[in-house]
Amino acid sequence: MPSDTIKTVGVLGAGTMGNGIAHVFARAGYKVILRDVENRFLDRGMETIGKNLDREVKKGRITEADKPAILTRIDATTDTSKLAAADFVVEAVPEQLDLKVRVLKEADAVLRPGAILASNTSSISITQLAAQTSRPERFIGMHFMNPVPVMALVEVIRGLATSDDTFDTTMSLCETLEKKPVAVNDAPGFVSNRVLMPMINEAAFCVMEGVATPEAVDAVMKTGMNHPMGPLELADFIGLDVSVDILDVLFKGFGDSKYRACPLLRKYVAAGWLGRKSGRGFYKYS
Ligand SMILES: NC(=O)c1ccc[n+]([C@@H]2O[C@H](COP(=O)([O-])OP(=O)(O)OC[C@H]3O[C@@H](n4cnc5c(N)ncnc54)[C@H](O)[C@@H]3O)[C@@H](O)[C@H]2O)c1
Repeated sequence: MPSDTIKTVGVLGAGTMGNGIAHVFARAGYKVILRDVENRFLDRGMETIGKNLDREVKKGRITEADKPAILTRIDATTDTSKLAAADFVVEAVPEQLDLKVRVLKEADAVLRPGAILASNTSSISITQLAAQTSRPERFIGMHFMNPVPVMALVEVIRGLATSDDTFDTTMSLCETLEKKPVAVNDAPGFVSNRVLMPMINEAAFCVMEGVATPEAVDAVMKTGMNHPMGPLELADFIGLDVSVDILDVLFKGFGDSKYRACPLLRKYVAAGWLGRKSGRGFYKYS
């Protein structure tokens, strides 16, 4: 059931996370304005949503008739002015500070004063992003996990100025999406990446130092610690470039050498071995 106060949701960026976020809002009954810079990115995002909805029909999560109804709730557009109709906006453009600030300022200028702006950033300070807008008290972090239609967690991050009302609204909104929100405060890497990335980094050091092969490292963590994926499989899934970027944010944010990125990760990134998306990382993908 959609929320009482929020009916229309804007999503900025139709990439990996943006199309998943649009999917879960539309599935829950919200009208969605999905904005990207070019029609080809919107087409690709809508195609992914269609395929993921087909998968949900097969699994019995939704019915055949739900699919067209969900798709018609999404207005895919390159027009920022359409965001004026949104009650809540989630930004999911690439993890670059300058780009995020520009996109958030554009949305801030169009949105009505009471609307809430959320960022799906993995690592950039929510307090810093909020300060670039006219609504720091109505700004919050909403960190969905990939793949969004499948993963239950949303890490909800309060910036320094985030109001109680914005926080409560965002937590309830997550519940209407059938997600599990977990509240954390703003700090480098929040909780998810602060805990996950050092594990991935240590796994890479084990391979670099010849302690074990990637297969052996992953087998230890899957079989011994009950992790569904080994840390190196997971790093390939996330992207080794993304992992290095997040480690750099942790290293810079805390000034602590325990977060320095493993040189083997940097070497793979320099070679273009970015993980699944490039066909090779710790493993090869066909
Ligand atoms: N990929 C993940 O596993 C993951 C997980 C959690 C959080 N995140 C975060 O989500 C955000 C998006 O990541 P992603 O993996 O979806 O990236 P992506 O590159 O797949 O998608 C980004 C999309 O934003 C679009 N875009 C660029 N400039 C834009 C603009 N001015 N206005 C609107 N759209 C614009 C791009 O065309 C692209 O379609 C990042 O902040 C990332 O850190 C990613």
